[in-house]
Amino acid sequence: MKVLVTGAAGFIGSNLVHFLHRERPSWKITALDLLTYAGNLKNISTLLDEGRVSFEKADITDSESINALFERDKYDIVFHLAAESHVDRSIMSAREFVSTNVMGTQVLIDAAYKYKVAKFVHISTDEVYGSLGPTGFFTESTPLDPTSPYAASKAASDLMVLSFCKTHNFNASVTRCTNNYGFYHFPEKLIPLFITNAMEGKKLPLYGDGMNVRSWLFVEDHCDGLLRVAEKGRAGEVYNIGGTPDCELPNRDVTFMIREMLGKSKDLIQPVGDRPAHDRRYAVDTTKIKNELGWEAKTPFKQGLEKTVAWYNANRSWWEEIKSGQYRSYYEKNYSNRG
Ligand code: NAD
Ligand code: DAU
Repeated sequence: MKVLVTGAAGFIGSNLVHFLHRERPSWKITALDLLTYAGNLKNISTLLDEGRVSFEKADITDSESINALFERDKYDIVFHLAAESHVDRSIMSAREFVSTNVMGTQVLIDAAYKYKVAKFVHISTDEVYGSLGPTGFFTESTPLDPTSPYAASKAASDLMVLSFCKTHNFNASVTRCTNNYGFYHFPEKLIPLFITNAMEGKKLPLYGDGMNVRSWLFVEDHCDGLLRVAEKGRAGEVYNIGGTPDCELPNRDVTFMIREMLGKSKDLIQPVGDRPAHDRRYAVDTTKIKNELGWEAKTPFKQGLEKTVAWYNANRSWWEEIKSGQYRSYYEKNYSNRG
C-alpha cells in the first residue's frame, strides 16, 4: 500500500506517520511537508534516518510539483493534514489560510482524482461548526457556522472535498476532531505553551475569563480513528472524532492541572485580553464513528496530560530551540497588546 501523509512534519501529521509505521509496517509511507514555521523534520527524524519513511518537501498549492509526485508514486491512500492551523495567526492574517487550506486542498483533490487514489482522508476540525452553548454536542449534520478565518478556510475545504465525492464519485471521507494534545505539539497552542512556559517560570496568558471549554483528544487516539476511517470509512461521509467522557474542560481547569503537575505557584496565571469572537465551547457527538467503525477514544485526559508533561520534560531541547527562534516575534505580536 502506497500512502501519502501531507503536513507530516507538523504535530498530528508526525504522530500519524509514527502510528502508521507501527500499525501497518508493510505500508510505504511518503511524508510531505513544506516545512513552514510549524513543520519540524526532527518530529520524524528517526524514521527518516532509518529509511523507513521517505520525505518530500513540497507546497500543496504548487499543482505542478504535486501532480508530478502523484504521477510518480501512484498513491493508494492520502491522509491530508497540511494546513495553517492556528486561530490567533488567522486573526492576524487570513491570506495564507485561504491559500494553503482552500487552494492547497483543491490542488490535492484534483491530483488524487486524476491519478485514481483509492481513498482520500481529509482531516478537518470541529471548529467548522462554530460555538456551542453550555449544553449539547455537534453532530455530523450540525450546520457549518465557522467563526475565525481559520475555521472558515477549513469549512471551505470540507465543502470542496465533499463536492468532489458528489460530482466525481471521489472516494473521500472528512474527519472533524476536537482539540488534540500530545507529543510534538507546537508551543503556540494552549497545552504545550502553558507546559513550556510553566517549566521556564513564565506567565500563563489565559484569555478572557478562562471559562471557554475545549474537548481534548489524545493525538494517538486520533491517529487510530484516522486509520479506521481510511480503511473502512464510507465515501462522502463526515466522521466526528472526540476524546474520553472526562475530556471536556474549561481552560482554567486545564491550566490548574498543568500548574499542579509541575508544582508551580498560581501566581504564574495571567488573565489577558480575550481572543476576538472566541468560541465558547466545543464538544462533539462521536456515535457515528463508534457505531460504524468501532472507534472510541481510550486515553483519559489526566493520563494523557501526565504523559504529555513528561514528554516536554524529557525533550526540552526540542521546544527550547523552537521558542528561541522566529517564534519570539509571533509571541510578542500576539501577546503584547492583550493587556
Ligand atoms: P500543524 O500546524 O502542527 O502542522 C501543519 C503542517 O502543515 C506543518 O508541518 C506545516 O509545515 C505544513 N504545511 C503548512 N502549509 C503547507 C503547504 N502549503 N504545503 C505543505 N505543507 C504545509 O497542525 P496540526 O495541529 O498538526 O493540524 C494538522 C491538521 O489537523 C490540520 O489540517 C488542522 O486543521 C487539523 N486539526 C488540528 C487540530 C489540533 O488540535 N491540532 C484539531 C482539529 C483539526
Ligand atoms: O477544535 C479543534 C481546533 O483546536 C483545531 O482545529 C485548531 O487547529 C487547534 O489550534 C485548536 O484550536 P483552539 O483555538 O481551540 O486551540 P488553542 O490551543 O489556540 O486554544 C485553546 C483554548 O485556549 C482556546 O479557548 C483559547 C485558549 N488560549 C489559547 C492560547 C494560545 C488561552 O487562553 N491562552 C493562550 O495563550
